[in-house]
Amino acid sequence: MTKSGKAQGNRGNDEYCIDGEQLAAVLAPRPRGLMTAAGSRMMLFFFRTYLPRFVIITALGFFALVSGASAGPSNAEIAAMKARYQRSTAIPYPKDNAFSTAKSALGRELFFDPRLSGTGKMSCATCHDPTLAWGDGRPTGIGSAGNRLDRHSPTILNLAFGELMFWDGRADSLEEQSIGPIQNPAEMTNEMPRLIATLRAIPSYQASFAQAFPNEEISAATIAKALATFERTIVSGQAPFDRWVGGDENAISEAAKRGFVTFNTTANCASCHSGWRFTDDSFHDIGLHDDDIGRGAVIEGIPELQHAFKTPTLRNIAQRAPYMHNGSITTLEEVVRHYAGRFVRRPSLAVELHRLDVTAEDIQDVVAFLETLTSVDPTFAEAKKQ
Ligand code: HEC
Ligand code: HEC
Repeated sequence: MTKSGKAQGNRGNDEYCIDGEQLAAVLAPRPRGLMTAAGSRMMLFFFRTYLPRFVIITALGFFALVSGASAGPSNAEIAAMKARYQRSTAIPYPKDNAFSTAKSALGRELFFDPRLSGTGKMSCATCHDPTLAWGDGRPTGIGSAGNRLDRHSPTILNLAFGELMFWDGRADSLEEQSIGPIQNPAEMTNEMPRLIATLRAIPSYQASFAQAFPNEEISAATIAKALATFERTIVSGQAPFDRWVGGDENAISEAAKRGFVTFNTTANCASCHSGWRFTDDSFHDIGLHDDDIGRGAVIEGIPELQHAFKTPTLRNIAQRAPYMHNGSITTLEEVVRHYAGRFVRRPSLAVELHRLDVTAEDIQDVVAFLETLTSVDPTFAEAKKQ
């Protein structure tokens, strides 16, 4: 597919994006045959009959583990780890920008429209492309004048659940963030009064704004609210990993299961990549070779924040190489090797990295696990066909 932005802006919205109903389907756990009335009776029987045995067996397993007779964690421990990755079932919207279908549809139009940029050639989707898991597949972004940006275009997946925006957290909300790139001379190179005049002159936008914001004008505030509402609907769908957490033992490979355990125990990845989005929404220095001080430039005077960047979500990670705020690591295997000891040891290095133990054998397993986080929902499957 082209990188021109124009092509992407003029089409694609329907194929690329999920509307409210599809989203509900994506967020909800997949219905299972077992959960029919007969199925639930069967489960009750199963639990009554087997649960006591299960408890005894896992207790024995735990005993074996603590006495050093067994290497891996018990089933109960794995179940406890899995429980930390239950997905959210609803998208949170702020009170001052509640969801409406009209607002989200307008935000979608704006997001894919190259007329938002000064040159008329670049849309948000040029750098946040749904076929590349909402990134751009480049080490760092390319602005509308062909200029190279300083940082990697991050995915915009699952930001409804996030806190601070940008790699360095300098924006407090999606509303605050969303009009930044339009006016940024290095990115979309437009001016707000000019954009407002452009949109006011387009009849279809007059209609969509009137529907989304009945008593308000086309303004920076309404553009921001619409874009933010659309962005909140961009949620990664059910991945093989979720099916495994939901009880399907065949959903992921044995290597991926070992990788999950390593991720949560010896490799300590889960201390930062925590919860179903695999992020603590915090900032850390993981020792990349780079002069960018990230969060350290936003909040000065705190040594730990030098070179600290936001922990990225790991959802759909296999689809959006290269990695890191500077796009300096090209494969997932290299990312895990980085954690296995390639990081720069400096005073700001996150303490967790000192405690992290990744062996050569662990690397493939952890990569296999990361690959199970790719969702197979219609958003990506359909976008890929284009
Ligand atoms: C020229 C490429 C480019 C374009 C066009 C672009 N972005 Fe971005 N976007 C980036 C880069 C690079 C960053 C990271 C910048 C940083 O963190 O300092 C970013 C960050 C973001 C973030 C923060 C993500 C996070 O995890 O914190 C959001 C949200 C976002 N962009 C939305 C948009 C929207 C909405 C538009 C259109 C109005 C847009 N972007 C247009 C390149 C682009
Ligand atoms: C101290 C917290 C911390 C720990 C521990 C940690 N990470 Fe990270 N991870 C981060 C941060 C912060 C970044 C972004 C760094 C940057 O770009 O400067 C990141 C980036 C990544 C990325 C690239 C994401 C992207 O979108 O570019 C992957 C993949 C990753 N980590 C996997 C792992 C794995 C696997 C482990 C365990 C071996 C691990 N992380 C341990 C905080 C952590």
